[in-house]
Amino acid sequence: MGNLLAVSTKRLTKAFDGKEIIHGCNMTVEKGTVYGFVGKNGAGKTTVFKMLLGLLRPTMGEATVLGMDSVRDRSEILRHTGSLIETPIFYEHLSAADNLKIHLAYMGIENTDLENVLTLVGLANIGTQPVSTFSLGMRQRLGIARALVHKPELLILDEPINGLDPVGIIEMRELFHTLVRQENYTILLSSHILSEVEQIADRIGVIVDGTVIQEISPAEIKEKHPAGIEDYFIKVTNGGKANE
Ligand SMILES: Nc1ncnc2c1ncn2[C@@H]1O[C@H](COP(=O)(O)OP(=O)(O)OP(=O)(O)O)[C@@H](O)[C@H]1O
Ligand SMILES: [Mg+2]
Repeated sequence: MGNLLAVSTKRLTKAFDGKEIIHGCNMTVEKGTVYGFVGKNGAGKTTVFKMLLGLLRPTMGEATVLGMDSVRDRSEILRHTGSLIETPIFYEHLSAADNLKIHLAYMGIENTDLENVLTLVGLANIGTQPVSTFSLGMRQRLGIARALVHKPELLILDEPINGLDPVGIIEMRELFHTLVRQENYTILLSSHILSEVEQIADRIGVIVDGTVIQEISPAEIKEKHPAGIEDYFIKVTNGGKANE
């Protein structure tokens, strides 16, 4: 069972300055699937992602990522995972390709086909234009390229479609599906665009005040909540059980 899971957390807990923000969080992401992580602003999505990536240390509990412990095996997890957390930071005076090259050198991994990765995210022929001149959506695309370029197994993407235009959102949806169906990726992403999560995700985890209260498939939401995913979200995040 364990090796079928890309991510599992057990009673994951995080306190900042003595105040508990994430409480006993249990979540499970199966390999080869897209998991959509949803919750209100401040619910704890980014904090959970940072713990999975070893960027924050849990106060209690544990997270297993690709069979490894998030604290003990942090550097190995980072090699096998691509991530985009909040607003990505780049070398502003350098081109998209040079930013990717620096990332690869840092990771100690080779990928000679940078143009292909840039094309995948919709940044073909971007040339030597410095990142300082990029629009919000172009930066987001470059952030996704950086998450992909070292060919990881798992992508942890915090609001990856934030700032993308409607065509960009469709392109990313198709890219994520291709990566999962043809390249055996696992994708864990957060988003506030529920209609998109419903289309992209195989499973949806809902976090309310630092606890994952439900893991459910889009089909189950449709079946149990004919009024739609937004109605479901409002009910569960306001303390309702939403099972009935
Ligand atoms: N370093 C920190 N120190 C203190 N509190 C923090 C810290 N990081 C996050 N928090 C708090 O933890 C809570 C969860 O924040 P988090 O960024 O994980 O939420 P989120 O679900 O990602 O929200 P959003 O949808 O707005 O991105 C918030 O109340 C936030 O203020
Ligand atoms: Mg966040």
